[in-house]
Amino acid sequence: MSRTKILAIVGSLRKDSYNKQLAMAVKDIINDRADFEILEYGDVPFMNEDIEFPPPEAVKRVREKVKQSDAIWFFTPEYNHFFTGVLKNLIDWLSRPASETEPQVLAGKPAVISGISIAGTGTSMAQDHLVTLLSFLDMDIMNQPRLPIPKAQEQLDEEGRLKLTTSLPFVKEQVDAFLDFVQKRMN
Ligand SMILES: Cc1cc2nc3c(=O)[nH]c(=O)nc-3n(C[C@H](O)[C@H](O)[C@H](O)COP(=O)(O)O)c2cc1C
Repeated sequence: MSRTKILAIVGSLRKDSYNKQLAMAVKDIINDRADFEILEYGDVPFMNEDIEFPPPEAVKRVREKVKQSDAIWFFTPEYNHFFTGVLKNLIDWLSRPASETEPQVLAGKPAVISGISIAGTGTSMAQDHLVTLLSFLDMDIMNQPRLPIPKAQEQLDEEGRLKLTTSLPFVKEQVDAFLDFVQKRMN
């Protein structure tokens, strides 16, 4: 039996993104229980129906990555109580069929959301908005446990890198729950 393939989509293009670091922490916690890859999508253009067909190469590549994965793990920052524009742009591309005969690639995929931010709400509001969008696109979302991590700046090491402290048990709990959630859908 092939190993579960999880694709991580991080809603920040920032080099030292806390959300990207959170994704890498999740990868470490998952270890050899599943494949876990972070999607690179900085080259995806702004959605513009003038360039939708044939799809740009970058769009073809990210659609294929989603198609080949068993599940998607979203890591979203919170911008003004919403998820980020780059993430919305990517999802808008993914929400469209590649051609008249192909379905969009997100429908039916198991999904989960985590996020880390500076403020005390820890991306809760961004996550609520993202759940609404992903539900509209028919993703199979695991809603419990959710993982909003507040006050990233209080969980850093001497070099300013994310070092999960109080949040670690909650991250581990979400990892176990999502691996179980995905496994049940693959059986
Ligand atoms: C335009 C903008 C809006 C922001 N709005 C929020 C917000 O609503 N809530 C919050 O907790 N942090 C907010 N922040 C701060 C982010 O939490 C912080 O920049 C965080 O590091 C972004 O995630 P990243 O490290 O993964 O890039 C905002 C940052 C920017 C640039």
